[in-house]
Amino acid sequence: MGAAANPALAAGGATAVPRHVGIIMDGNGRWAAARGLPRALGHKAGAEAARRAIEAAAEAGIGWLTLFAFSSENWRRPPDEVQDLTLLMRHYLNTEVARLVREGVRLRVIGERERFGPELVRAIERAEAATASGTRLNLNVALSYGGRAEIASAAREIARRVAAGELDADAVDERMFGGFLGTAGMPDPDLIIRTSGEQRISNFLLWQAAYAEFVFQDVLWPDYGAAHLADAVTEFSRRDRRFGARAA
Ligand code: FPP
Repeated sequence: MGAAANPALAAGGATAVPRHVGIIMDGNGRWAAARGLPRALGHKAGAEAARRAIEAAAEAGIGWLTLFAFSSENWRRPPDEVQDLTLLMRHYLNTEVARLVREGVRLRVIGERERFGPELVRAIERAEAATASGTRLNLNVALSYGGRAEIASAAREIARRVAAGELDADAVDERMFGGFLGTAGMPDPDLIIRTSGEQRISNFLLWQAAYAEFVFQDVLWPDYGAAHLADAVTEFSRRDRRFGARAA
């Protein structure tokens, strides 16, 4: 269903569709616990919800979607849960590529992918290469991603170049700094959604979210679907975004 056919999206008006949406997909564990299931099955259902959200975003005309799939802090989880998530991600990448290509989705991974080991890195590289010509939706999957680590890494690289005489310290401004982040060349998120009722940013797109609108939805991620995304977009379209300027 496209924006025109979807009453919730149509109500917001085509111009109010956010260009870039970030989603903190939260609540897989609680969804599984509520059903007496292992957490791994919550994550599996979460991957299916991710597939629905990707399709819904593409149909709604959202150009960029960033999904927070594994944070830098998630390494603190028990090794078997990390292993389950790693295997799920690899399986997802290997089995979804054809569908992503068919749907015109370009996939990119931001974050410290190397930490997952060579097999997942290879699956990521294959998926990025196979989907590189997609133009309908730019999909970023944030893996081993942390906003502070990303900012520190950019600062380190800039300091290295300044020390090597390749860069003038006075030339470092916000625009240039943004070019050293994992999201270089991408638009900042207009809307950040978090599910499960929690209301935290949890180190997601810290630099990029400077002017993002936040929508917190009381739904566990595995239950997420097109109607939830449409609700979030409708809420976004009602917001008065001033970017620091005075209200009219
Ligand atoms: C948060 O739920 C979710 C995660 C840490 C993992 C997110 C991963 C997926 C949705 C699946 C893979 C995604 C892709 C794109 C293949 P939680 O475990 O913190 O839930 P809880 O707060 O209820 O315990």
